Amino acid sequence: ITDKNVGDWAAAYVAKKINEFKPTKERPFVLGLPTGGTPLEMYKRLIQLNKDRIVSFENVVTFNMDEYVGLTPDNDQSYHYYMHHNFFDHINIPKENINILDGMAKNYKAECQRYEEKIKSYGGIHLFLGGIGPDGHIAFNEPGSSLSSRTRDKELTMDTIIANSRFFGGDINKVPRLALTVGVGTILDAKEVLIMVTGANKSRALQHGVEEGVNHMWTISALQLHRSGIIVSDEAACSELK
Ligand code: F6R
Repeated sequence: ITDKNVGDWAAAYVAKKINEFKPTKERPFVLGLPTGGTPLEMYKRLIQLNKDRIVSFENVVTFNMDEYVGLTPDNDQSYHYYMHHNFFDHINIPKENINILDGMAKNYKAECQRYEEKIKSYGGIHLFLGGIGPDGHIAFNEPGSSLSSRTRDKELTMDTIIANSRFFGGDINKVPRLALTVGVGTILDAKEVLIMVTGANKSRALQHGVEEGVNHMWTISALQLHRSGIIVSDEAACSELK
């Protein structure tokens, strides 16, 4: 399927899951969310589904995967900014239901611990959405991350800094070196995980992720350990599959 269809498919799936759950204020649906280029089509479609009253976010609680360290929420490259600009400002989600790691926190450890505890306080994440990097990372779990890692600070690899520099005017010096990110273990704890993969530059990562063994150098491969892991990908991303 095409890039746009991946977004449409994922959005329809999210709406279906929320509607089947019939969330209430006391029993909200808990959704894990990514940023980046890949999910943009899905967010556009979800906004439309919300406007058309096909899905409501009134009783949905969200947890974003990650945030750069050192960018204020009003910095247009922060994931706070991205999420409000591309999604939250256009749907009926209550402000207090939105959770994003604080990249300006002085004490990273305490902030990451707080985040893990808050996820637990809701009984875990029902559906964690994500994308992958060309090096196979999920969230910012770079190659070499422990497959049982929890939310923590993580140094970005040069590959990721270069890949993400396209959002910073192509200047690698502007890309933060550090991020706070949920761990592979945090993602695997979700009841269901849905990963979107589009474009030929992700084809090697997808091949390693689904056709090679579980390996901490391609953290997407940890999805093989999950009972309900879904990958939605376009043709180009499948080009290296055997
Ligand atoms: C985003 C995230 C990352 C991205 C990945 C792909 O919150 O955690 O893992 O999903 O880097 O990014 P794009 O979609 O921009 O290619």
